[in-house]
Amino acid sequence: MTKIALVLGGTGTIGSATAMAFLKESSIAKVVVTSRSQEKLDRLAQEIKSTMGEDAAGKFLGVVGDPGHEDAAKDMQAKVIAAAGDKIDYAVSAMGFGWFSHDPLATTSRAKIAEALEMQLFPAFGAWKVIMPLVKNAGGSYVFVTGGGPDTFLGPGTGGLTISGSTSTAFAKVAMKETAQDGFTSTEVSFQVGVCRDPSAMPPGPIAWLSSKDAGSALVSVALKRKAHVKTMVIRSQEIMNELIAEGIAS
Ligand SMILES: NC(=O)c1ccc[n+]([C@@H]2O[C@H](COP(=O)([O-])OP(=O)(O)OC[C@H]3O[C@@H](n4cnc5c(N)ncnc54)[C@H](OP(=O)(O)O)[C@@H]3O)[C@@H](O)[C@H]2O)c1
Repeated sequence: MTKIALVLGGTGTIGSATAMAFLKESSIAKVVVTSRSQEKLDRLAQEIKSTMGEDAAGKFLGVVGDPGHEDAAKDMQAKVIAAAGDKIDYAVSAMGFGWFSHDPLATTSRAKIAEALEMQLFPAFGAWKVIMPLVKNAGGSYVFVTGGGPDTFLGPGTGGLTISGSTSTAFAKVAMKETAQDGFTSTEVSFQVGVCRDPSAMPPGPIAWLSSKDAGSALVSVALKRKAHVKTMVIRSQEIMNELIAEGIAS
């Protein structure tokens, strides 16, 4: 039990399930979860204690930080190093969630587009700059969670999700290529489905809903098995999710 895992955005739907899936792994000594909010970290710690028990709660370490701004990201890096050391074996980046818009772009404000980038792109970018070096130190693995962007959502009135989803997937692909030979594994996992705690509660619609618990297990499997270096794993169905959980890579 020596490995260190870190989840960026670990209080969110996908991030919290990922943190819990890491906590179940016997090889992992500590699971660091970053959030901008101490209150959210306290709530997650409480949930872990009540649903997973004292041992899991003892492995959980919350770090308050905001990777969306460069100075704050450096400050977050210092806190992570102080709490867990300068080697991170597994990092999962699962921050932000793009706003959906039903307005055409011609009547969408600049501020709304900027908000989408602030939420989806800049936290992933800032975190990569300060957390990737720690993953590189460990020769570990870094997993980017992205969304469908144009592959799933392109159409009138989808500017929010499409633009923010496109930036996150473009960012992940370039970052993976730039560090392909740097001694650690990087993988993008693109969810082209909806992910929530209870898919059975979602109304029928054009988008399939899958469980966040499965999403967390799939991301942890990708991080630990390290079979999908500089690859994008696209989740479009439960079958693909199951394959990723079992194999850490999908065909
Ligand atoms: N859920 C889905 O259906 C779905 C589908 C496809 C792709 N995705 C992608 O998966 C990722 C996670 O989605 P999710 O559903 O888990 O979202 P979520 O529940 O809203 O959680 C996202 C987390 O990101 C953090 N965050 C948000 N804005 C941030 C910012 N400006 N700076 C730093 N951290 C920020 C928040 O943490 P704190 O407030 O604690 O800091 C939040 O807990 C997103 O990139 C999303 O696009 C989700």
